[in-house]
Order: sequence, then C-alpha cells, then structure tokens
Amino acid sequence: MKTKKLYLETYGCQMNFSDSEIVVSILEKEGYEITTDPSEADLMLVNTCSIRDNAEQRVWNRLRELKSFRKKNPALRIGVLGCMAERLKQQLMEEEKAVDLIAGPDAYRDLPDLIADAGDGRKTANVLLSAEETYAEISPVRYDSNGVSAFISIMRGCENFCAYCVVPFTRGKERSREPETIVKEAQDLFEQGYREVTLLGQNVNSYRWLQENVVPVDFPALLAKVAMVSPLLRVRFATSHPKDLSDELLHTMARHPNICDSIHLPVQSGSSRILKLMNRKYTREWYMDRILAIKKILPGCGLSTDIITGFCSETEDDHRETLSMMEWAGYDYAFMFKYSERPGTLAAKKLSDDVSDDIKSRRLQEIIDLQQKLSHKSNQRDIGNIFEVLVEGFSRKSNDYLSGRNSQNKVIVFPANGAKPGNYQQVRVTDCTSATLIGETVKSNV
Ligand code: SAH
Ligand code: SF4
Ligand code: F3S
Repeated sequence: MKTKKLYLETYGCQMNFSDSEIVVSILEKEGYEITTDPSEADLMLVNTCSIRDNAEQRVWNRLRELKSFRKKNPALRIGVLGCMAERLKQQLMEEEKAVDLIAGPDAYRDLPDLIADAGDGRKTANVLLSAEETYAEISPVRYDSNGVSAFISIMRGCENFCAYCVVPFTRGKERSREPETIVKEAQDLFEQGYREVTLLGQNVNSYRWLQENVVPVDFPALLAKVAMVSPLLRVRFATSHPKDLSDELLHTMARHPNICDSIHLPVQSGSSRILKLMNRKYTREWYMDRILAIKKILPGCGLSTDIITGFCSETEDDHRETLSMMEWAGYDYAFMFKYSERPGTLAAKKLSDDVSDDIKSRRLQEIIDLQQKLSHKSNQRDIGNIFEVLVEGFSRKSNDYLSGRNSQNKVIVFPANGAKPGNYQQVRVTDCTSATLIGETVKSNV
C-alpha cells in the first residue's frame, strides 16, 4: 500500500510540539508517514502560535512559501492547526486561498474527516473548543525525539486570563487528564529507553483530578506518582504560576531525588502595580516569598523565568523594579519579550498599549544584558562542582564532546567517553560560557 506523506511544522510552546505528536499518532492510523522534505508531501500541516504578533507574522510568511509546492503537486493539501487556527479561522478561510483545512487545538480527532472533505477549492474547518478533550488515551508519536527526553501533556487550556494573554481564548477551559493515563505514558517511555519526562500544562500547579469516592489527585500527588515509575526516570514540569506554587510541591520535589531541582517561575514584571494590571494575582512581595521558599526547601534549585517588558503604562520605575527583581532572584535563565497587544484580551479592551516601540526595545535590551550577566555569574558559581548529567547526545559543535543536562536544567558538555544517550555521568565543571557549562567526567558509569 502506498503510504501518504505528511510534512509537519510546529511553532510556539512545548504544548504545541506535544500536540503535534498527537496529530502524527492520529494520522499514522490513516496511512500517513512523516517526511522532512516538503516537496514530497501529500499533506502539509502547520501547527501555529498566536502568543505575539511576530509569531503570527512568521506563519503567514511561511504559508506563502509553502503554497508554492502546490505548483508541482496540485493534489497537495495544506492545513493550519493550533492557536492561530482557533483565533483566525475566519481570516484563514477568506484570505488565504492556499489553506484547505483548519483545525483548532481540541479538534485533532476530526482531522481524518477534515482532510477527506477538503480540497479542490473546498475548505473545511473545526475550531470547536472542548471542556473535556485531553487526548488521554492517544499515544503520542515522538517523531522528532532524541530518545532520551519526552513531553507529557497533563492538562489543557487555561482560565487565568492574564490581561496580555491570548491562550485562554485559543485553548479554552482548563481541564486535567486522568492520572493513570499519564503514569502509563511515563512507564511506556521508560521501557522504551527514555530517561526524562517533562509534565506539561499552562499552569501545572492547578492540576486536579476529581472523581467520586476517590481521593483527589493534585499536582504534587501526580508528580510523586510519576517519580515512582523509576528512580532512573527524571521528572520535570512546566509551567508553574507563582500564585499557586505551594510549599507542598517543593517538599514533594525535595523527597524525590529524580524530580529535577529546576523551576520555571514566570515573573512577567517586578512591579506590583504592573502585575495588578496584568491580572497576575500576585504581588512582588508574594513572588519574593515564593522564591525564598524555593531557596529554603530546595537549596541549589535552578530558577528560570519569563519577562514581558513595556506592558501598558510601564514607567522607568516599574522597569527598574523588574531589573532589581532579576538581580535579587538571580535567575539562571530567562525568556524575555516585548509586550505585543493581542486582540480580544483584557489589556487590548481596557488598557492602552502606550509604551513606544523604541522604549520597549531599549528596556528589553537592558533586561537581556542583565540576564546575560546573571547567567554567566550563575554558571561561574558552578565551577568546581560535580553534577549528575543525563547524556542527550553529541554536543552541537563537535562529536568529540557529549552534551547533557544536570538536574538544574543547565547544559553541560564534556569530552566524549563512550557514554550513550540515556546514560548518567558524574561531571565536574571546569569552565563555562554564559550559556553552557564545560566539564570532565569524574566517574563514568559506562
Ligand atoms: N502559561 C505560561 C505562559 C505561556 S506563554 C505562564 O503562565 O507562565 C509564554 C510566555 O509568553 C509568557 O510567560 C509571557 O512572558 C509571554 N507572553 C504571553 N503573552 C504575551 C504578549 N501578549 N506579549 C508578549 N509576551 C507575551
Ligand atoms: Fe497566559 Fe496567564 Fe494562562 Fe499563562 S497563566 S497561559 S500567561 S493566561
Ligand atoms: Fe502559542 Fe498557543 Fe502555545 S499561543 S505559546 S502555541 S498555547
């Protein structure tokens, strides 16, 4: 039987990459096989992101490029998935002639029908959001994996409605996935040789599985269940909302050595006034208290963050509070963005995007420069220390070096010594850049 070829591009967050693995699983059953060569595709899917305007612009440009492949293959079908499909269905239907099908994040089970009905000028779409869909029993196909680390979606949607954020509109109601299916997925991965799983949700701290006559499973309980799959399976998670980060979670992390000592805790701004406008539901002081709890319960824990600069009405004083928060927390790593107004959000409706692009750019640069210094300092502090590193593969620059991560989520490269992806190695840090630790094996477990 001739297999059909699927070419799939994914943009946006880890959740989207995880969704793409579900899409591949659904389409494999329809006889599709993944290809990395767009010119041989029967079906092209672009899984898209709406988080900032430039994320959407990139996809519009890419769609223009991809449709040129139809000249050679008139039967080619092109589909748009994900958050832009959800947000811009109408515009994609009306303006983008090349697009045959449109599927929102909760509509992937419908893809076989959408594909069958689309084409020859007919467009099909399903952007219904669901209150229940978690794709719980679908086994994701890890088509682009290093065989060592994998993502597991534990929940979908978000109802926090941070004023700047489009996610609650593109991904709908928050819902948790049945814990047994999560643990089973982790077990299967471990048996296939995977050694690290990252549990994914927009706000994992509000994970909750309720059933009559059964003790509810909250996030710390779920984390402990996954950690017990094997002491050799590392467990990570993303993302934590500071408002819900409990001491209980930190104690659970401390109790299980294989739950990695690394927390991504997006601060967004260091100014309580801006945090209030952002509808983040915590203050600067609350956030600092959470960091103190992390440092007390999990000494040496890796810490990273997200920052938005130039949010509505942000002053130089607010900006300085963000810089001072960064310095105080001493983040190892940060994702830093200029505020981009998203249609339909609370901020777009109620606040004015009144910080000029020049000022946003200047503040962003100051934030990036400071973070670079903080990352470098943090890496320098590690020199001389020994870490357990999970090997992921050769380093990007040379096959003479292996690359992996420590529990704190820092990348460490060290001379190749025969260790394989999935092996644990004890590595002493001897040098660093602001992005990478460089080390040597102390004891090789090969
Ligand atoms: N659920 C996660 C974040 C998902 S979006 C959380 O709550 O932390 C990832 C990051 O994109 C956010 O943390 C924020 O820093 C950034 N972001 C979201 N909306 C944005 C916008 N409109 N403009 C600029 N950055 C934005
Ligand atoms: Fe967006 Fe806030 Fe939800 Fe994160 S918690 S996805 S920033 S609304
Ligand atoms: Fe983007 Fe949607 Fe993720 S907007 S960041 S792909 S949830």
